[in-house]
Amino acid sequence: MLTEKEILSDLKISRTTLWRLKRKGMPCIKVGSSYRFDRNDVVNWIENNQGGEYSEGYFEIPTISDNLILQFPSNQPKILSQKIKNNYKITISYLLRHNREYLDKLLTIEELNELEARLVEFNSDVKNEDAVKVFAEAYTSILKKRHQNEYIENCDPKLDRFINNKNELKIIWGDCLKVLKKMKSESIHLMITSPPYYNAREYSQWENLNAYLNDMRLIIRETYRVLDNHRMWVFNVGDVFDNDNLKTKSVWGKRRLPLGAYFIKIFEEEGFEFVDDIIWDKGEVESQRHKNGGVNYPFYQYPLNCYEHILIFHKHRLDISRIPCPVCGSLNVNGNTQSEIGVQSWECKNGKCFERSPHNRGKRFSLRSNMMQDISKRISENSIDEFILSKWRRDILKFPPVIKIDQNGNNRIGHSAPFPKDIPEMAIKYFSYAGEKILDPFAGSFTTAIVAKKLGRKGIGIEINKTMFEPVIEKRVFEEFNGQERLEKFSL
Ligand SMILES: C[S@@+](CC[C@H](N)C(=O)[O-])C[C@H]1O[C@@H](n2cnc3c(N)ncnc32)[C@H](O)[C@@H]1O
Ligand SMILES: [Zn+2]
Repeated sequence: MLTEKEILSDLKISRTTLWRLKRKGMPCIKVGSSYRFDRNDVVNWIENNQGGEYSEGYFEIPTISDNLILQFPSNQPKILSQKIKNNYKITISYLLRHNREYLDKLLTIEELNELEARLVEFNSDVKNEDAVKVFAEAYTSILKKRHQNEYIENCDPKLDRFINNKNELKIIWGDCLKVLKKMKSESIHLMITSPPYYNAREYSQWENLNAYLNDMRLIIRETYRVLDNHRMWVFNVGDVFDNDNLKTKSVWGKRRLPLGAYFIKIFEEEGFEFVDDIIWDKGEVESQRHKNGGVNYPFYQYPLNCYEHILIFHKHRLDISRIPCPVCGSLNVNGNTQSEIGVQSWECKNGKCFERSPHNRGKRFSLRSNMMQDISKRISENSIDEFILSKWRRDILKFPPVIKIDQNGNNRIGHSAPFPKDIPEMAIKYFSYAGEKILDPFAGSFTTAIVAKKLGRKGIGIEINKTMFEPVIEKRVFEEFNGQERLEKFSL
């Protein structure tokens, strides 16, 4: 057995070639963190793989059912792998034929017609990887539509058209609970906000803590429906010092209310999975309220609260609808264990699939891994720069809050609680792709949407207080984009 270095110099092949073969199932042995290869194996695999994964001159399997059974017995992988590598071509019409039995079972007649109508424009020039991609996208979008149709009567088609029109900066005036209820299911790719904090400002007053948390819960419940599957929610909230107004309303009832902790529980109860709590260190704060009059004896003193939470949640709605293998496009797949709670994983059972593990297992995949591994998404617009990566390397980080009051004592932004751009910047770069729709249901001064637009995404905000924020947002959009961008508005 030879080491990687020895085999590369011996056979004069590139590291990429070696890894490509390994990925296709060429045997090797793992020793610690490196691999050993058998020279004869590598030579054979190179010979059998001259044409690349998807080569031209193909044979199409004449009968469909014949192709739907596992045809890759582990005792003769070599002969078959040779046949596959050199004699295969996938087109859309081939995939429709190959998957016929499954499509007939899985889709209604209307859905099948729609699938065929969507694919009709793609002729036989679309081949192999491209054909698999086009087919898989059309098929999964039909499944998505089926899910969206379960709620469609409650949606507002005008609102939906507004959200999906070409403009990239949009504000919806209204109560976000009401607006969210009229939005299509799974139609937003990422949510980011800083909610109104319990009784912290003049615009956010509730009778007691429970009333507040309950209002927030209803909104979070609706965002679960509206957020696309396997996507994220980035929620910035600070703990507040106040009276919960439950047992007592007096000043003595004031204490630290751990809003961050309460929100985590609510998000979890509404179906989200907790991913992270990044601590935003706000540096020195102005408030002196924890100092308790300088009595330097036990039980009087507590540190000042100078951090906020950046809570991160995942939506994993378990969807067990069969999806095609991302390598070969076959629907001949078996349900596997869930790779994460709520993420259905599959294993390709098409014996002619190109990608098999060294132990001859089929390609394993899920909707989530398909999205994350999609090579066409690895473009510069989606790459995260070194600066951001190193800035957000640790889960405690320090950046200043937005300074609200200028030297003359005027509120500069015209709003009492804007969050710094750092938060949406990280959230958008880490958890969305260019062109996607980013929603802030408590838009305030529109920070999320502005950052989204600057990063090539679509920024959408919902804000209840039109009188206060319309002039603020308009001014900000004008300044941020030098009057070059139009803000579109919708009222509900
Ligand atoms: C903490 S601020 C958001 C700050 C924002 N991230 C920014 O940078 O400006 C909360 C905002 O939510 C708004 N709001 C409160 N309740 C709302 C509701 N039910 N629907 C929509 N907006 C609401 C408030 O008017 C306020 O502007
Ligand atoms: Zn496959």
